[in-house]
Amino acid sequence: MTVRRQAVVQFERRYGRRGQDVLAQLGEAARANAIDPGDVDRVAAELGLPRAHVNGAASFYSDLQGDRSERHVRVCTGAACFAASAGAHLGECEAAAAAGSASSERVYCLGYCYGGPAALDGDTPRVGPDVAAQIEGTAEYCDPEIPYAVAVDDPVVLARLARGAEPWASWRAVLGRDGGQTVLDQALASGLRGRGGAGFPAARKWQAAAEMAGQRYLIANGDEGDPGSFADRLLMERDPHGVLEGMALAALACGATHGYAYVRSEYPRASAAMRKAVAEARAAGALSQDAHGSGVDFDVDVFDGARSYVAGEETSLIHSIEGLRGSVLARPPFPTENGLFDRPTVVNNVETLSALPWIVEHGGDAYSALGTDESKGTKLVCLNERFQRPGVYEVEFGTSLRTICDELGGGLRDGARMRCVQVGGPLGGFLGPAALDVPLSFEGLAAQGVDLGHGGLVAFDERVSGADLLRHVWRFAADESCGTCFPCRIGSQRGHELADRAGDGPLTSQDAVLQEQLIETMGEASLCAFGRSIPSPVRTLMAIYAGEI
Ligand SMILES: Cc1cc2nc3c(=O)[nH]c(=O)nc-3n(C[C@H](O)[C@H](O)[C@H](O)COP(=O)(O)O)c2cc1C
Ligand code: SF4
Ligand code: FES
Repeated sequence: MTVRRQAVVQFERRYGRRGQDVLAQLGEAARANAIDPGDVDRVAAELGLPRAHVNGAASFYSDLQGDRSERHVRVCTGAACFAASAGAHLGECEAAAAAGSASSERVYCLGYCYGGPAALDGDTPRVGPDVAAQIEGTAEYCDPEIPYAVAVDDPVVLARLARGAEPWASWRAVLGRDGGQTVLDQALASGLRGRGGAGFPAARKWQAAAEMAGQRYLIANGDEGDPGSFADRLLMERDPHGVLEGMALAALACGATHGYAYVRSEYPRASAAMRKAVAEARAAGALSQDAHGSGVDFDVDVFDGARSYVAGEETSLIHSIEGLRGSVLARPPFPTENGLFDRPTVVNNVETLSALPWIVEHGGDAYSALGTDESKGTKLVCLNERFQRPGVYEVEFGTSLRTICDELGGGLRDGARMRCVQVGGPLGGFLGPAALDVPLSFEGLAAQGVDLGHGGLVAFDERVSGADLLRHVWRFAADESCGTCFPCRIGSQRGHELADRAGDGPLTSQDAVLQEQLIETMGEASLCAFGRSIPSPVRTLMAIYAGEI
């Protein structure tokens, strides 16, 4: 098998060393001061790793950059907070932080898109229109719970949260039987597709790993980088045992004996809730060697990310756990052949895994009876603060976006007029109000030129101009490109420059042509779905605001 790994990794393989403590140790150093060469030397020496390995990570992840005061404020500049204040909160929050001798930085999404604009003061949330005053200390702190509701008779993913279904019941039930095959059979029958964005059939991934020999890993992807999505935060914070049970069932199906729950650093509470649940599940014998006396071994470690949107991509995420830069790898080989620590690895989204206990309990046929031909089952969708009733909703695939926006979300607040909805995060695309009759499904949205992504719906009203939105899209691309391939690394910077140059007016016709050439190149030649997807938001936005941008 040809595996293209960095030289430092080849070296470590030879000497049997692993870098999974690199991000934690660098994170510790970055909290005290800006990371300097001495920190890199020390961490490399303590872990017995080449300096290049540690330095690569130190210079990549956003959490490891810059100087911080003892008090540090992360201010959200993600799409939902941008929609909430048209960006006005950014300067106000930064000024309030500076007045309190705190350092501050802009981050993309803290998972409070239903109540923003949002900031994290240390690890404490400040949320709402008066977020700057909350940072200043002149307004009461606001930390709203995530609102959620079910719009299906029998919720699948929210079964435990909304209906009190008992966690670990499916795990106990399958352990006694031919568990792995049972889970695989039911997942195959269910037609479950991954919820992380690509929509890959879950059972096929597990089958591919199951056919491999030796140590295998299962990773729950809790990076949830899409601004506008907070469903995984809800699941990890409020239903962590459901996430762990889903991981255990998937591990049984693919033969993994160890798992990692990867949680983004912008979700400190999710990380704490997952760690607590792991300890409880170990104490109860659910996660252990010989779980419940079945002869099945499975245990989980919780891993905190260090802030990088691209680290949600599976090969980048694997590098991140290995303590490397979050560079994306070309595939094949797929992680199911060669992944974490060079072993076969399955990466699944948190929501995908959370559907599994219900599927195993009720059967794959019951699940596939829900939804559309190509999109089976239910989906969590997230509505941002602009809606009258923002929050997480579990809906059946095939429900129209209009029903979701108008009936569940209640339309926009304060009688505002909707200009567009961003679907599926920064890589998904935009729909105008006239296009909302489209059914929520992988195929329905693709026919409109947008991607489902992780199911975030961010509504924009008239306070945000098309020019502002275009700049926002390109700024995100430029800020978060991992830099591995040049069409995306350079294209995202050039696109940002074009949008900046246009100011509040339309692009010149020459720049419009240049922009089209840029996105065509990015779409054709980028290494991963990040660069390849940028044409979709740019083109759909240009169509909606035709004549304005
Ligand atoms: C730039 C980029 C960012 C991604 N971010 C996430 C993420 O935050 N969460 C996630 O589950 N998948 C993310 N993905 C998709 C993962 O690569 C992978 O397909 C997914 O975790 C697999 O899980 P699933 O099969 O359950 O969907 C991202 C992909 C790309 C290209
Ligand atoms: S497309 Fe962008 S994010 Fe993906 S590998 Fe290339 S530079 Fe990195
Ligand atoms: S909290 Fe700001 S976009 Fe999600």
